[in-house]
Amino acid sequence: MSADVQKLAAAERALDFLEPGMRLGLGTGSTAEKFVDLVGARVADGLDLVCVPTSETTRSQAKALGVRLTNLDDTPELDLTVDGTDELDGQLRLIKGGGGALLREKIVAAASKKMVVIADASKLVETLGQFALPVEVMPFGLRATLGHVEATARAAGCEGKITLRQAGPGNHFVTDSGNHIVDCAFGKIADPAGLAAALSAMPGVVEHGLFLGMATTAIVAGDDGIDIITAA
Ligand code: A5P
Repeated sequence: MSADVQKLAAAERALDFLEPGMRLGLGTGSTAEKFVDLVGARVADGLDLVCVPTSETTRSQAKALGVRLTNLDDTPELDLTVDGTDELDGQLRLIKGGGGALLREKIVAAASKKMVVIADASKLVETLGQFALPVEVMPFGLRATLGHVEATARAAGCEGKITLRQAGPGNHFVTDSGNHIVDCAFGKIADPAGLAAALSAMPGVVEHGLFLGMATTAIVAGDDGIDIITAA
């Protein structure tokens, strides 16, 4: 079964979590995109939902599908967010931000009572860090912040190549909130909580892609079927 088929299977299973009248956060990325398509079909069939998208890309997709949209100013509390991930471990700790939407994804997840993660089996890892950790940084003081990220990560036991994400030759990638992304190829993150705390404390770092204690359920689709992992 290809990763694409697994992503669709996970997205389909996540529909079981929907209830009429829900306030729903919509994730970003190729897996979330499949879920949003399925949500659009349910809405077309009459399901009443109001949704907060986690990126401009998801906003456009959901709008085109006729999904009713709101924002966290009008609807500050959500019942559920369904989103993809770049990595997850058995404790439902995540690395997100491969698509550059980690800041809004984290704000929306934090506003939600529950967060269901949908993933193909390749995303489930023993130890986080094989996927380079995205860190969203402010344009102001960029070079200084990059140096601080490197030093802080090293002090937290993480070393590896730190790269400013590019959108094209000579163009730094710009997030929906006007910031840049630094990808940190640590290989292994032995202490995700320690690294998260150190990055969060750093001026210039807007947010990092470690989502700890946020996911309540993960739906992981593999060749042998679907595994549901629930937070302890
Ligand atoms: C977007 O910024 C990310 O956090 C995505 O949720 C994550 O990269 C998963 O994307 P895929 O479903 O495309 O793998």
